[in-house]
Amino acid sequence: MTEPLRLLVVCLGNICRSPMAEGALRARIEEAGLSASVRIDSAGTGGWHAGEPPDPRAIAAARRHGVDLSGLRARKLQARDFERFDALLCADHANLRDVRAMGPAGGRAEVALLMEWAGQAGVVPDPYGGGEADFERVWRQVDGAAQAIAARLRAGTASVRARTG
Ligand code: 4NP
Repeated sequence: MTEPLRLLVVCLGNICRSPMAEGALRARIEEAGLSASVRIDSAGTGGWHAGEPPDPRAIAAARRHGVDLSGLRARKLQARDFERFDALLCADHANLRDVRAMGPAGGRAEVALLMEWAGQAGVVPDPYGGGEADFERVWRQVDGAAQAIAARLRAGTASVRARTG
């Protein structure tokens, strides 16, 4: 059997955007019948919230859409993630820049923007200083990206390094 594809979603704190994207991706991958062939995780470029569950507003937004994030715990991106994962999918340009700066030379993982990897425009804005509506908007955005990624994987068109990262 071939090795599963390993995707790591990365934001700043790993308590808002990347856990929401992790939950949405896991749900859409399962829905597409691809759970056995894709692994999903998330991490933050910062470690201030390491060990904590997602922000209550992120948990609430996901719950409104039938996804439970309460068991997730934040962690900081590690050098070995660049070896363990096939692609590190970043929420915004600052995350992309920080991830690239943290990467060991010659790491095997592709580093890209989540939205771009999903074939969609834009970045996922940080909702941390916002309110419920901002978290709802982020949920819809990352779930749209998750649906697109699941569809592409199902069609076999989402190859790692399909685009230059
Ligand atoms: P996230 O949001 O990167 O989407 O998890 C943030 C969470 C915490 C902080 C910043 C952004 N913080 O500064 O603690």
